[in-house]
Amino acid sequence: MRFGTEILKQADFLATCSQGSSGITRTYLSDAHRQAGDYLLGLMREAGMQAGYDALGNVVGRYPGLEADSPVIVTGSHQDSVVDAGRYDGLFGILSPIACIKDLHRRGVRLRHGIEVIGFGDEEGVRFEVTMIGSAALTGSFDVNWLDRCDDAGITMRRALENFGGNADAWQSVRRDPGRIACFIESHIEQGPVLLSENLPVGVVTAIAGVSRLRASVVGLAGHAGTVPMANRRDALAAAAEMVLAIERLAQSDPSPVVATVGKISVAGGGAINVIPGRVEFTVDLRSPDDAIRRTAEAALTNACNAIAAQRKVVLEWQRFFDLNAAPCDPYLQEQLASAIGEHGVKVRRLPSGAGHDAMKFAGFTPMAMLFVRCGNGGISHNPLEIMTAEDAEVATSVLLRFLEDFEPKSPHAA
Ligand code: GLV
Ligand code: MN
Ligand code: MN
Repeated sequence: MRFGTEILKQADFLATCSQGSSGITRTYLSDAHRQAGDYLLGLMREAGMQAGYDALGNVVGRYPGLEADSPVIVTGSHQDSVVDAGRYDGLFGILSPIACIKDLHRRGVRLRHGIEVIGFGDEEGVRFEVTMIGSAALTGSFDVNWLDRCDDAGITMRRALENFGGNADAWQSVRRDPGRIACFIESHIEQGPVLLSENLPVGVVTAIAGVSRLRASVVGLAGHAGTVPMANRRDALAAAAEMVLAIERLAQSDPSPVVATVGKISVAGGGAINVIPGRVEFTVDLRSPDDAIRRTAEAALTNACNAIAAQRKVVLEWQRFFDLNAAPCDPYLQEQLASAIGEHGVKVRRLPSGAGHDAMKFAGFTPMAMLFVRCGNGGISHNPLEIMTAEDAEVATSVLLRFLEDFEPKSPHAA
């Protein structure tokens, strides 16, 4: 096997670059980020690339092309992880193109276009509750106010960057000129069961679902758990529980493609066994490949929760802290990926992505496409049980290599 076994071994090593005592957790600008980043830089250099960190801690490797003036192909994904993650989410999209370039370098092949591989420092948004920091900076939607956001320990992003050896003041240097980029291509584990159920190793992504993220704050009245009669209570947690179930019911019964998740809920101060909860916060993550459907679903679920709040006499406030439109993948690039897959004798399956990806930030900036790789174990991801086989890593990397070698930018005269 040319690629698959080695990539899986590299992913096994990267799984040890983790903070905390068990599982895989690697947040932006942590020691684990540094450990993984240094390892990736080593792999890039061994593959014949010039490599280093940019001002925001993204790992960037360059393999020059034959035509110095031609725009470059940018490819990559994120190095960070969710808490207690799988080992391929993000990292496969960095390791696979490095393997391609190592192969080109070994054969002494230079392509017309230069290639850049990027390991984005943050995509998951675990540490500072803002996602896709690296790809936002590259594509011009980094918000300077993010530098003042604090992590759970009260450390600002600016300070964390300083500790990492980055340079917060140089964040604008990360931004690219879209005229110098031919396309962005991201390989990623599917994180769902479609390819697995159809027994296919890879697929072409058609579009990435849009996302709304809301924070709900429910305020009732704290009181003594032993003395306040049940009829007189304004229990914020019981109200929030009813809202969580209403949100689930709405998404379940919606015939259009929409999913909603309450992933975080907390009672102020952690709660106490003998106190009626007075204040609760929870988050809602709402996604759909169709932005109009997502907006309608958002209105329906906030209305349903507002009605519960009124009935339970609690105050409910909403804050929408994240809103990212669905990102269609470029049809011309999809065709090129499809033909690379076809050349490997694999049936071409096109499918949307329910998960968010760095590629979303490139939509409207430069032509963008994604290659999905089958996810084993029922399609489970954001979980240590996430699995990819060496055989699938091999097919996906061979397809990516073919795509890179055959890449032709769309003629400005083409329809
Ligand atoms: C990233 O993994 C996301 O879709 O939340
Ligand atoms: Mn993820
Ligand atoms: Mn990912």
